Amino acid sequence: MTMTGLLKHAAIAASFTAACCAHAQVPDAARGQALYENHCQVCHTSKVHARVNRLPVSRAEIRDIVEKWQAQQKLAWRDSEVDDVVAYLNQTIYRFQR
Ligand code: HEC
Repeated sequence: MTMTGLLKHAAIAASFTAACCAHAQVPDAARGQALYENHCQVCHTSKVHARVNRLPVSRAEIRDIVEKWQAQQKLAWRDSEVDDVVAYLNQTIYRFQR
C-alpha cells in the first residue's frame, strides 16, 4: 500500500470508530436489564417499582434514584450505564414521557 493509501485507510478506520462510539451513547435497555438483574434485584422484586407511593415522578428522578443506588452499592457505573438502567426501568415499568 502506498503512503497515501495508508493515510486514506486510517481516515476511513477513524470515521468508523467515530460512528461506533456515537452510536454507543444511545441508552441500551437490554444492557440496562442485565446490569439491573445482576446488581439491583438482590434486594427488590419489580414490585418495589409498582408501589402506589412510588418515588420517581419523571425520568430525571428515576436517574437520581438509580445514581444513588449504584453509588450506595459501590458499583462505579459510568453515566452511560446509569442511562441504560434508566432506559430499561422506564421502558418496562415507569413509562414517563420525559
Ligand atoms: C440493599 C438493598 C437494595 C439494593 C442493592 C438496591 N435497592 Fe433499590 N430499593 C431498595 C429499597 C428497600 C427500596 C424502597 C425504599 C425506598 O423507598 O427508598 C428501593 C427502591 C428503589 C427505587 C424506587 C422504587 C419506586 O418506584 O418507588 C428504584 C428506582 C431503585 N430502588 C433502583 C435500584 C437500582 C437501579 C439498584 C441497583 C443499582 C438498586 N435499586 C439496588 C433496596 C435496594
